[in-house]
Amino acid sequence: MHLDQLTISILFGTGIQRPEIGAVLDKLPQLKLLDQTTDPQSFVGQHTGLSPDVVLVEMNGESRVPEWLENLPQEMPHTHVLVCSYNREPDFLIRAMQVGIREFLPLPLIQSDLESALNRVRTARRQLAPADNRNGKIIVVTGHKGGVGSTTIAVNLAQALAESSTGRLALIDLGRPFPDVGTFLDQESNYSIVDMIQNVANLDKSFIQRIMQPYGARLSILHGVSDFREQDNIELESLEPIFAILRQMYSFIVIDLSHWLDEFFIRILTEADMVLMLTGLTVPDLRNLKKLWPYTMEWHQDKRKIKIVVNRYDNNCGLQLRDLENILQHPTFATLPSDYPSMMQCLNQGSPLMGAAPRSKIWQSIKEMTSRILQETGDDDHEANGAAAPRKKYWLF
Ligand SMILES: Nc1ncnc2c1ncn2[C@@H]1O[C@H](COP(=O)(O)OP(=O)(O)O)[C@@H](O)[C@H]1O
Ligand SMILES: [Mg+2]
Repeated sequence: MHLDQLTISILFGTGIQRPEIGAVLDKLPQLKLLDQTTDPQSFVGQHTGLSPDVVLVEMNGESRVPEWLENLPQEMPHTHVLVCSYNREPDFLIRAMQVGIREFLPLPLIQSDLESALNRVRTARRQLAPADNRNGKIIVVTGHKGGVGSTTIAVNLAQALAESSTGRLALIDLGRPFPDVGTFLDQESNYSIVDMIQNVANLDKSFIQRIMQPYGARLSILHGVSDFREQDNIELESLEPIFAILRQMYSFIVIDLSHWLDEFFIRILTEADMVLMLTGLTVPDLRNLKKLWPYTMEWHQDKRKIKIVVNRYDNNCGLQLRDLENILQHPTFATLPSDYPSMMQCLNQGSPLMGAAPRSKIWQSIKEMTSRILQETGDDDHEANGAAAPRKKYWLF
């Protein structure tokens, strides 16, 4: 559909139909009235079809925002909600803003007011339309067992990328059975990848932008699926188109992928441009990794994208990095020190290392690892300026 063509539904919140509103709409070009109702509650509750681009809600000086109107932006994240009213109480306005309603028009409705509001909707849609063929990189953080540090590293890597690269970033929590990113960052959201899968047929950037939760200026988060039954129902076929559109929107997509070895896990690894495979440096860790390693090779043609990261590294005790490298015949990409006090501070504050322990060694190590990732992916400044010499590869094979 052409971007300037908009569909609209009218909800008469006072329960009385006002034909004069429809009459103003009729005069506007490129606007198609889909439906109008005096029973907004059931419209919001039972709406199953394609959502209109715009919902125009008529109210009349109420001081409280009714529940159906509070739910409307959440129920129809594709849709822009415009509220028109004869009077507006400040309490009503504040609450409406909080639930995500940004446009208010005075009644009686003036054609030019409505036209300007619709033009703002069109501008927003145009800004979200594909501008170029940028292709963001997917970085998956995982490990061969729980507790190895996937969530910790994914969260802090996303933050470090936001600090040291220029584009927009997404952090996606695909942790199962317990998605933890929300807990680590003290954030909550009603949306997860399931919402993208359910809308995959008409997925667009505007929908994705609405369900991603902003965290700072350049990072957006998609939280995990907390319902175990929903985790089992994720349709694998939907993942490819979802990642294709995410790559257009973000320069990096960091995924916290827990270690469950199933088809879903393999699909996500296949999508990845880089996989940070976390491990500890103990005998059980190396034994498990040794078992997992040949399978990883079977799933992936290009083992260069798999980067071994030793978490809680202590070079004074026990096994050495060369033991790991001998077993896997693969280099270690980075080591991150153990830092229990800084980690506790993060967990207790619900904040990443940058906020809770900016001077810690582990945060420095994550930043160093991040600049290596930027070098590898060709997204560092040096390369972006076109001044780089051909990159050296350090593979052992
Ligand atoms: N380098 C580290 N030093 C100290 N504690 C760490 C380190 N990395 C992770 N942790 C802690 O280990 C626990 C498990 O980490 P988490 O990121 O939840 O692992 P996973 O997501 O792989 O299950 C958390 O309490 C975290 O704070
Ligand atoms: Mg985790």
